[in-house]
Amino acid sequence: MEETRYLRRYSDGDRINHWALVILFFCTALSGLSMFHPSLFFLSVLFGGGPWTRILHPFIGVLVFLSFAGMYLRLARDNVWNADDRVWLAGAGALLSGRKHEMLPAGRYNAGQKILFWWMAITLAVLLVTGLVFWRPYFAGYFPIGLVRLATVVHSLTAVGLILGIIVHIYAAIWVKGTTRAMTRGLVSESWAKRHHPGWVAQMTQDKR
Ligand code: HEM
Repeated sequence: MEETRYLRRYSDGDRINHWALVILFFCTALSGLSMFHPSLFFLSVLFGGGPWTRILHPFIGVLVFLSFAGMYLRLARDNVWNADDRVWLAGAGALLSGRKHEMLPAGRYNAGQKILFWWMAITLAVLLVTGLVFWRPYFAGYFPIGLVRLATVVHSLTAVGLILGIIVHIYAAIWVKGTTRAMTRGLVSESWAKRHHPGWVAQMTQDKR
């Protein structure tokens, strides 16, 4: 039997950065949801009760932003949109309906991943800015009350948008067999890479020459 060959997709640093981001994200999402609606208030027990949840949420939120900034510096270059991404998007319908054998052009990331990456970047920036505007007692006092109220609504809606994006991200990571290994071990099989990211394999072989 032929031995499976593996390619390195993420370094130790990349993976530590990603999983720190995941833990911090879940902490902010759950603490935020507990303040979003009374029916979700029970989640605040995870953070030491209502007052502690209220105190901790914005600080953890800033850490989420900073740890995403780390991922951004590592990966933004590989997420820049190019001509192949339109072709990938045009074929995405077939992919979603199960005809996965039709190979679509993709470099290190496909168009779907890129859209999600930029969605995360934009929503996190909006969450940071709007969050600062209504962060009492530190900053809210500097802004008119109308703006503080508007920031609260935009912050909540953006958070819902980000959570939906993350659900898609997790579903895709589990649904595409062989992908989670990239973030757990840092490795992917060569056949996975050729099937889902042929451009990346070509680029890596070229770099080695
Ligand atoms: C249980 C939760 C999660 C799982 C299982 C997971 C899994 C993965 C996997 C397997 C990859 C590698 C995909 C590839 O190389 O093709 C990845 C990449 C990534 N993940 Fe996650 N992830 C999770 C949560 C999150 C969260 C909460 C965030 C952000 C708030 C996030 C941000 C990212 C980013 C930015 C990338 C790089 C993708 C790109 O640059 O386009 N992940 N994740």
